[in-house]
Amino acid sequence: MADAAAIESNSADHVTVSPHAHGFAAEITGINLADGVSDAEFAVIHQAFLDHKVLVFRDQPLEDAPHQAFAARFGELDGHINKSTRQKGMPNVQVFSNVKADGKTTGVHPEKGTLVWHTDKSYTATPSLTTVLRSPAIASKGGDTLFADTARAYEALPEPTKNKIGGLRAIHDWGRSRLKSGERPATEEEMAAAPPVDHPLARTHPETGAKAIYVGNHASHVVDMDRSEGEALLAELEAHATQAQYIYRHKWRVNDVLMWDNRCTMHCVEPYDAAKEKRAVHRVVVKGDKPV
Ligand code: OGA
Ligand code: MN
Repeated sequence: MADAAAIESNSADHVTVSPHAHGFAAEITGINLADGVSDAEFAVIHQAFLDHKVLVFRDQPLEDAPHQAFAARFGELDGHINKSTRQKGMPNVQVFSNVKADGKTTGVHPEKGTLVWHTDKSYTATPSLTTVLRSPAIASKGGDTLFADTARAYEALPEPTKNKIGGLRAIHDWGRSRLKSGERPATEEEMAAAPPVDHPLARTHPETGAKAIYVGNHASHVVDMDRSEGEALLAELEAHATQAQYIYRHKWRVNDVLMWDNRCTMHCVEPYDAAKEKRAVHRVVVKGDKPV
């Protein structure tokens, strides 16, 4: 017979899911991620993740190890191509920070590619399922993270556009997206680790079955289409998906944990004054499936 403590730990009644407008993004309360997450709690979080695509947990002063342990509930962790951002001794934790050891700012935003619309690691054969971020330091002005619901945006496309993109694929190229966003060029070793790949322009979510537009900064051009025509189509799809009605704007607080479904969203960081403002995020990424 189950005892009271076992029943208690199997319950997730204390967890609350509060969705934002249009059900895009939700805040989860009643959970302390540092304590670990029970199976019952995880089931609620996982369902909320599928339903709302972006999850916000406030007031979670996490260390890297429990942060990583929480992300690992969602699947296999994935390190980053850019080894310079890896946390010492924890290759699956990356730190994007403009704060130096002496407490002063570097003056530049790390990873400029995060300032433009993208979906994480779409330049790999098995792009990120989710990215779990936490915020030890936030900018007082700017530095919000914007999310676009690319599944709702797909639904709203005119039928002829859905049909047109149905059979099309785009090349996703990390080396090229770095140049586009003004980052240092990828090294030969990095390009060997991340050669260009192609993915469908509209992908089907492996868990919900919903279709979503799959573009962003790493998408360089469309396979078997005139280069400029393909670039124009990618730009048109991105502009459509990032209209105000599909956006959730995350206003950071220190110790937020924020996670998103890269299979049906795009995101970007709003510019801020990287000389004046300190901004740091720690990041753990979970590997996803090959997009279909
Ligand atoms: C990322 C990213 C957004 C941010 O970690 O993939 O795009 O708010 N970061 O720093
Ligand atoms: Mn990103």
